[in-house]
Amino acid sequence: MKKVSQGFTNAFAPQTLYVYGTYKADGTPNFGLFCWATYCFDEEHRFVVCLCEDKLTRDRIRETGIFSASVVSEAMLKGADWCGNHPGYDTDKSAAILSHPGKKLNVPIPDGSPWSYELRVVKTLPLDDHGGAEIYICEFVNTLVDERLQDESLSFEEKMAIAAPICTANWQYFKADGPSLGGWGAFKDNDFDRKENPDEMSALFER
Ligand SMILES: Cc1cc2nc3c(=O)[nH]c(=O)nc-3n(C[C@H](O)[C@H](O)[C@H](O)COP(=O)(O)O)c2cc1C
Repeated sequence: MKKVSQGFTNAFAPQTLYVYGTYKADGTPNFGLFCWATYCFDEEHRFVVCLCEDKLTRDRIRETGIFSASVVSEAMLKGADWCGNHPGYDTDKSAAILSHPGKKLNVPIPDGSPWSYELRVVKTLPLDDHGGAEIYICEFVNTLVDERLQDESLSFEEKMAIAAPICTANWQYFKADGPSLGGWGAFKDNDFDRKENPDEMSALFER
């Protein structure tokens, strides 16, 4: 494999898509679409979010310290994309994503999401000196899931087909329903020959 340098892009780093839900000051649910999000662990699991530029979601999180983050399913994609392209300041988004209140926090939960977190911000990391971009480290207060995902008779691949999460790469939406390539550690006992051609490693995944 010959390598070449190029400018920054995260085109080949697929990210999970979430909608973040907050209630406006008048109680109307509002949703934005987000992908700069991940998980970390200190003494417990945390959700990590980066928001930049003025948006209602950021204002409401600053005001209340709480929001919901919900995995975007294939069925939700149209509404989620619409919410990601219309600022909440001048739009009522409540018809694009139907929702109900959370069980532990006063945050809207999309009816159609298979997997939602009710989150409280525990730490804010400013990324600039003018209040633009911020990272929020959040506590998981509650997780609300489609009850079908708790059916222990189903394989995880079958559950993935039910949840049908969407990911994004190269500014496009993709399904995340590929077959499992093995569990973590599936190859930990592999006896690699240092002279092995890395280009041939993909043979590991041939089915
Ligand atoms: C696919 C996609 C991913 C996005 N990810 C982020 C993100 O991670 N952080 C962010 O600040 N804005 C992100 N946005 C932009 C917000 O969704 C957008 O500004 C939206 O209008 C905010 O709505 P609000 O004003 O109701 O908060 C993304 C937009 C799209 C389409």
